[in-house]
Amino acid sequence: MKLFCVLGIESSCDDTGAAVIRSDGTILGESLASQHAIHEQFGGVVPGLAKDAHEENIDRVINTALQRANMSMEDVDAIGVTVGPGLEICLRVGCNRGRELAMKYNKPFVGVHHLEAHILMARIPPVKHDNNGGEQSATYDEIVQSSGDRAMDFPFLALLVSGGHCQILKCLGIGRYAIVGGTLDDSLGEAFDKIARLLGLPVGGGGGPAVEALSLDGDPHSVALPIPMQRRKDCDFSYAGLKTSVRMAAERMCVERGVESPERLRYEDKANIAASFQHVAFRHVEIRLGRAMELVEKEDGIRTLAVVGGVAANKELRRRLNALCSDRIEPWEMLVPPPRLCTDQGAMSAWAAVERLSVGSSDLAEDQEVFARYP
Ligand code: KG4
Ligand code: ZN
Repeated sequence: MKLFCVLGIESSCDDTGAAVIRSDGTILGESLASQHAIHEQFGGVVPGLAKDAHEENIDRVINTALQRANMSMEDVDAIGVTVGPGLEICLRVGCNRGRELAMKYNKPFVGVHHLEAHILMARIPPVKHDNNGGEQSATYDEIVQSSGDRAMDFPFLALLVSGGHCQILKCLGIGRYAIVGGTLDDSLGEAFDKIARLLGLPVGGGGGPAVEALSLDGDPHSVALPIPMQRRKDCDFSYAGLKTSVRMAAERMCVERGVESPERLRYEDKANIAASFQHVAFRHVEIRLGRAMELVEKEDGIRTLAVVGGVAANKELRRRLNALCSDRIEPWEMLVPPPRLCTDQGAMSAWAAVERLSVGSSDLAEDQEVFARYP
């Protein structure tokens, strides 16, 4: 099998990422400039500032990824760039640079769908450490013929839980997805971010890790919170109501303790709130996902689950979904990318491009646009 290498670029939100990946899944070099420090004081991503930071960092990030891979642009066989969904002015920074490079060096180009890229990370083969094949250049025909081993085959079910999205999808093939469930309001990542803000935890780059860490010191059954949408027997999510319940519980606690705002609560109280929120938020996932699994198992014989997106980095979620899969009468196989590859970074654009190219699909660099919304 002829190996090829793809340079991937990601700039859809507040991280500027680039990576060079080989078609067998080996990440040869990567670089990520996070903007956490810039947005921290605003409690969320400020698009204009994000765009400026992308512009400032993009060339350095790309060059660092290439250097770490010990490669120059000439050695790269193709370029993959996130083109949506995301913040339009941010997407444009990465897309423009990717297009320029593809045209200047005459390389095949792939405009990557960010959600597909999250999902496909579950198919990346476990990292191998040999370093042969990095230098050779493949022709486009060789690239198309070289689709190799993947960690899992289509079809499979995917739970995509990130800051921007909260979906259950039936994944049938590259570019072929059917939505089984979505969110009626907030995404799971957004709920984590809002709880982090309520409790005065650091939110730069997402509050999820802070809420997860605090939960370890709390009792998940100490604060009673209703599980969302108990009466709706479908696979959709809703997190807005839970967020309100958490805020009301925190405010009641403030009155009891005589403090003026949830940020001022004692560490133990905050930990109990965080742990209880996380417990119910994941219970909601288990119920909706369990129903979707039932459905696709019966209809399509699917028994593989991919858990992807930023929240998939959460250890407690991984543990609970692992149990959900193994406790079934006919156990499911579950695949989750390493935590570092769950959140946004350049390797996802690179790997999605490897997958697209492997089935003979690519785009015209000169015509590529960006899409804030990208169904
Ligand atoms: O995939 P991602 O990096 O960006 C989007 O495409 O949205 O996901 C970011 C989201 C944020 O909401 C962040 O709080 C959440 O993922 N997240 C976590 C954890 N790590 C990141 N949520 C819970 N636990 C974590 N460990
Ligand atoms: Zn993402």
